[in-house]
Amino acid sequence: MAEKILVIGATGQIGSDLVPALRAKFGNENVVGMGSKAKPSEELLQGPFEFADAADRNALEALIKKYEIKTVYHLASILSAKGEQDPELAWKVNMGSLKNVLDLAREYKMKVFWTSSIAAFGPTTPRDNTPQRTVLEPTTMYGVTKVSGELLCQYYFLKHGVDVRSLRYPGLISYKALPGGGTTDYAIAIFYEALQKKQYTCFLREDSTLPMMYMPDAIKATINIMEAPASKIAIRTSYNLAAVSFSPKEIAAEVKKHIPEFQCTYVPDFRQKIADSWPKSIDDSAARRDWGWKHEYTLERMTKEMLEKLSEKLGAK
Ligand code: SER
Repeated sequence: MAEKILVIGATGQIGSDLVPALRAKFGNENVVGMGSKAKPSEELLQGPFEFADAADRNALEALIKKYEIKTVYHLASILSAKGEQDPELAWKVNMGSLKNVLDLAREYKMKVFWTSSIAAFGPTTPRDNTPQRTVLEPTTMYGVTKVSGELLCQYYFLKHGVDVRSLRYPGLISYKALPGGGTTDYAIAIFYEALQKKQYTCFLREDSTLPMMYMPDAIKATINIMEAPASKIAIRTSYNLAAVSFSPKEIAAEVKKHIPEFQCTYVPDFRQKIADSWPKSIDDSAARRDWGWKHEYTLERMTKEMLEKLSEKLGAK
């Protein structure tokens, strides 16, 4: 019998793409999606799906026992902008759920994947080609939970031998599910508005360069790091991961190549300060060296594909 996988945060932005990818690889019945509130898509219901709150240890343990889970992908998180509006909730959800997952991984001998982020860095971090090992002094609650979480993961690996692996994702761009409450979300909203309204008002300055990645690359990285032999995973906090870096102005110019009448204006809000505290580009050579990471999508290719896929989804012209 194939070993069972649990994806926590299945209805979220990453989960909506990761669950189908894992099911294609391991079989629908072997990948259990877990959501907390949001209604799952038809696609997510093609295999087992359960509602539970990862911050509720008993509920989580019951699911792990029910399906005899051997691997957990823990994706559920309150993102940066929402976390600033409700820091209490960000701490409770992000830290509470991770602690439960790690404790249960120790008890039930499960392998774990957990999501960190470029938000683990802060204003005192070198912003260009940010190294793997560098200053980690984030100024958002989201970032605080990511640095704390990274250290907790490493602690459970060193102290209890939990095989936990993690990636510091850049801003992720995808068409299946909308993200909720992130600072890099503008790079998704811009596609919807360009197709539907031919104009977009961006909440970041036009020159706010941030590290970004198209979702198929992120899914590939996630599956690759989990399939690598444990001996190759030299970093047990979280790996830097990069693909492309661009500013709102650069992505707007790329969209305009496909939709010439598209106009983008810039009205920065509180999220500008968050963006200003993050790196512009990331050095991910450790991931490339240790487990063979390689991205595929450029800004040009991603833009073309996003517009095609979203047009189909929205039925837009
Ligand atoms: N995309 C996330 C955010 O903007 C960063 O991890 O919050």
